[in-house]
Amino acid sequence: MDVIRAFLKEHICGKKAGSLYLSGAPGTGKTACLSRILQDLKKEVKGFKTIMLNCMSLRSAQAVFPAIAQEIGPEEICRAAGKDLMRKLEKHLTTEKGPMIVLVLDEMDQLDSKGQDVLYTLFEWPWLNNSRLVLIGIANTLDLTDRILPRLEARENCKPQLLNFPPYTRNQIATILQDRLSQVSRDQVLDSAAVQFCARKVSAVSGDIRKALDVCRRAIEIVETDVKSQTILKPLSAGESQSPSEAPVPKRVGLAHISQVISEVDGNRVTLNQDKTQDSLPLQQKILVCSLLLLTQRLKIKEVTLGKLHEAYSSICRKQQVAAVDQSECLCLSGLLESRGILGLKKNKESRLTKVSLKIEEKEIEHVLKGKALIGNILATGLP
Ligand SMILES: Nc1ncnc2c1ncn2[C@@H]1O[C@H](COP(=O)(O)OP(=O)(O)O)[C@@H](O)[C@H]1O
Ligand SMILES: [Mg+2]
Repeated sequence: MDVIRAFLKEHICGKKAGSLYLSGAPGTGKTACLSRILQDLKKEVKGFKTIMLNCMSLRSAQAVFPAIAQEIGPEEICRAAGKDLMRKLEKHLTTEKGPMIVLVLDEMDQLDSKGQDVLYTLFEWPWLNNSRLVLIGIANTLDLTDRILPRLEARENCKPQLLNFPPYTRNQIATILQDRLSQVSRDQVLDSAAVQFCARKVSAVSGDIRKALDVCRRAIEIVETDVKSQTILKPLSAGESQSPSEAPVPKRVGLAHISQVISEVDGNRVTLNQDKTQDSLPLQQKILVCSLLLLTQRLKIKEVTLGKLHEAYSSICRKQQVAAVDQSECLCLSGLLESRGILGLKKNKESRLTKVSLKIEEKEIEHVLKGKALIGNILATGLP
């Protein structure tokens, strides 16, 4: 947050155009941190205009330009289209009078489409003569370094400043959860062992704070339902005192509730005692991880396309006489594995060309894959 604040102050107060690119997995606080910074900055610094767009809501990459025009305002720009619109936008951003314009494009991955120069054009705007634009791009998976950065670098110094959001750590997750809880109630709604356990589980898989919040929310719902069902099913008639067996169920969320939710989410009911470290994966996901491991070892590369991975996976399934899923399902499974921090995906419009890589060490992979004879067999045999 300090880096972003310093960047914004330098560019707004110094009337200096520029660009910043924030990357990081989902739920690492990119949107939340930036929104908070802008909100605070408005009280402190005058004379800048903020435009915040979520690219997810656009119909196409090109649609970002009319959307920006709408926010910028003057009717003359809003009515323009095509080349005329581009000219008017550029003119507006480079007229000498007027405030600095902070343009935030969230979920910028959506603007990455082949054969179009939308991203390139946007990152070029701050470098137009007299530009008043401070551009902040936010994205999950988009790797600017692939195609866009080299082109920008080639032209003078158009390179955006880069900042990566790492996943939240266990302590950070616990702190955020405690803070949220203290905002809603003075009572300790979740006991602290429950919070710590949730933070540990989520940080071990992805560090995605949304997942941690969601687990807590569901655990609270479980307790709420328990309490409600008790008061509805067992009303006390007048004068009747409560017998010990009908004592109210505890109203606090404990470790067991969190554990229950986590095992439901993972689709397998691993109890606490059975597995203290990592929940085991469903078989198809294990085979997929196996296939990727063998393929990257054979090809001696870190990243393979989904098409190639699916081929290897299918041939392994044939050999082991296991039913294989098709390529689109393979992409879904990869998505699940990505959300657990096991795989990395670089999405492509054509799913066959999506790039897949392993995100965990080989030792950890063994751990993830353990416990199935079939998997041991696949690994020992290698690629067919
Ligand atoms: N540091 C934080 N403190 C409190 N809440 C946070 C923090 N970071 C993220 N959150 C909350 O977690 C959720 C997901 O964060 P978000 O910023 O949307 O992640 P991202 O944009 O990286 O996907 C939001 O509801 C947000 O309010
Ligand atoms: Mg976001």
